[in-house]
Amino acid sequence: MRIIRSPKIMSEALRRLRSKGKTIGFVPTMGALHEGHLSLIRRARKDTDIVVVSIFVNPRQFGPKEDFRHYPRPMRKDILLCRKERVDFIFHPSGTDIYPAGYRTFITVEGLDKVLCGKSRPGHFRGVATVVAKLFNIVAADIAYFGQKDAQQVIIIQRMVKDLNIPVKIKVMPIVRDKDGLALSSRNTYLSRQERQDALVIPKSLDLARAMIESGIKQADRVASLMRYQIKKNKTAKPDYIAIVDQKDLRPLDGSRIKKGALIALAIRIGNTRLIDNYIVR
Ligand code: PAJ
Repeated sequence: MRIIRSPKIMSEALRRLRSKGKTIGFVPTMGALHEGHLSLIRRARKDTDIVVVSIFVNPRQFGPKEDFRHYPRPMRKDILLCRKERVDFIFHPSGTDIYPAGYRTFITVEGLDKVLCGKSRPGHFRGVATVVAKLFNIVAADIAYFGQKDAQQVIIIQRMVKDLNIPVKIKVMPIVRDKDGLALSSRNTYLSRQERQDALVIPKSLDLARAMIESGIKQADRVASLMRYQIKKNKTAKPDYIAIVDQKDLRPLDGSRIKKGALIALAIRIGNTRLIDNYIVR
């Protein structure tokens, strides 16, 4: 396994392999790897000849009051995990490798970036789209892997790839959860023992939504308000949003009935930690 910092050296190493007919699978991450990330890496390992994992805590996707400085960076452990999964390359650039002095170009996926997480995190998806486009240009993978955990991110990346004719296939992998149902996230390490327990209200509210829909309660407003009620019963949980939207364009279903393919997404603050989760109606 090689660890590469320079975008130029990364591109050149992969160009050589591509010219020998090797296929490339790419897993972009911000590190602090857990089983969610590993599920993407394992899928890439199965599908493609060469597996590239990027580890870059992208400053441009964090707001000024967010956790960029405190975001976990257990690089040694991440390297061991990648080695165990037989990753071929870790791409680990510095901030100035990606954003050298004078950097001015940004990508906005209009409309999709202002709703749900975009509302309370202005500029977040502009930062995500920009860094992912840059990483796609550097790695030029055949397939890139993303987790359904970040549902809005997936929709925005798919839109960007289509709109900009970026020649990469996007594969979306299911949400990996802990035994008790909490979706794995690098941010779960911020939770105290009590908060970790309180956070279970998130998957439980999605279970409640699923049960309601299966029992025939399909008014989007009604399902959302019952979820809100359940979450608010827990005093440490503060909803940022609970939304039932069309999976394609993120438009709210509000007064309508929930149909197959609807996305039920939520962001909840547990103490100072903001966690997201979602479920797609089957
Ligand atoms: P990060 O939060 O490190 O996540 C990297 C990838 O792992 C994303 O595609 C995310 O959806 C996926 N992932 C995280 N938790 C998961 C879980 N529990 N189950 C399945 N997949 C999971 O998302 C980012 O980094 C960044 O925004 C990035 C795309 C790297 C751009 O900076």
